[in-house]
Amino acid sequence: MAPRKLIRNKADLAIAGAPPAFAEPMHVGRPNIADPEGYLGMIRGMLESRMFTNHGPLVQAFEARLAEALDVEHVVVMCNATIALEIAVRALGLTGDVIVPSYTFIATAHSVYWQGLTPLFADIDPDTHCLDPASVERMITSRTSGIVGVHLWGRTADVEALQDIADRRGLKLMFDAAHAFGVTRGGRKVGSFGACEVFSFHATKFLNSLEGGALATNDAELAEAARKMRNFGFHGYDNVIYPGTNGKMVEACAAMGLANLAKLDTLLEVNRRNYRLYAEGLSGLPGVKLLEYSAEEENNYQYVVLEIHPDSPANRDEIVEALHAENVLARKYFWPGCHRMKPYSDLYPWADAHLPRTNEVASRVVVLPTGMAASPQDVEQICAVIRTLCS
Ligand SMILES: Cc1ncc(COP(=O)(O)O)c(C=O)c1O
Repeated sequence: MAPRKLIRNKADLAIAGAPPAFAEPMHVGRPNIADPEGYLGMIRGMLESRMFTNHGPLVQAFEARLAEALDVEHVVVMCNATIALEIAVRALGLTGDVIVPSYTFIATAHSVYWQGLTPLFADIDPDTHCLDPASVERMITSRTSGIVGVHLWGRTADVEALQDIADRRGLKLMFDAAHAFGVTRGGRKVGSFGACEVFSFHATKFLNSLEGGALATNDAELAEAARKMRNFGFHGYDNVIYPGTNGKMVEACAAMGLANLAKLDTLLEVNRRNYRLYAEGLSGLPGVKLLEYSAEEENNYQYVVLEIHPDSPANRDEIVEALHAENVLARKYFWPGCHRMKPYSDLYPWADAHLPRTNEVASRVVVLPTGMAASPQDVEQICAVIRTLCS
């Protein structure tokens, strides 16, 4: 490997004409492959058995291990979290308006809209980046049937306050837990809060199954409905009882999920190490705040999130531009917010005015690379770029 360029001052930065610090792009969310041999062994078995899909043994094993890991009674794995969210919305019987945050991945809103319902955007708490319960309460009307909370960055939403609102106002509450595998709230595993919780095992996620998702719940009836809906609505061989879809996970995806799940401790260790190195490397920079994770809870440290405040010498976009020039493909998550994207920007042109905290947070966040693909030296180099810009 060629020795890395040392970044000591602004003249060393690629934006000043110097060569980039990284020869190959450093992506956010580069997939973890914790056990390639274990994965290939399962794929060989799958090829020999010719059992590729339709709830095969690997999918069944993955569901069982997930239920154990999440401490929940029912896990229904699916081809991705977007379909799992759509099925959750359907199986819960939501109607009319559903309150969601705008500061989330677009799939949270689309999964409601795609079911013919209306996602309405509530504002977030700028400290947690998750739904602000007071904003949720203000948006409830007679048309509202449910709330979808999001545990953004694996930092849990205010579950108790949202559950209290749902109970008092007769609404269903579910969670988009796409970021929250392996996370606890009050010592309890995310997976059994609300009516159900939906995880993503997309390649970029802490636990990846290439593509994949799962609905987790302690409600047996809801789990059964979701199981049937993911399989076209079939109940037995020749009998369809729901308007279902094809949400099945294939065996090759379950194999990757199983292989990674067995090595989750290693993945967590790597993320923790990188997070600690970022915290050390970026400490003391004016206006640069690394989002913290509670020491009392378990977390997956999959997201290294920086907030760039107005007192930073370089603004968020300048930092992203400089990192990209160095081949570090840092991301402005979840810029510009769902309400500023179609179809929602056309449907609610007024939304911008009532989502001030969403707009503020979306304009100051940048997410940095971590996971197995980011070595300690990589993290130090990325910190050096930011320090050079922001000191
Ligand atoms: C918050 C959130 N919700 C939903 C999704 C959708 O997940 P999937 O890609 O598995 O459909 C993602 C994926 O990135 C996400 O970040």
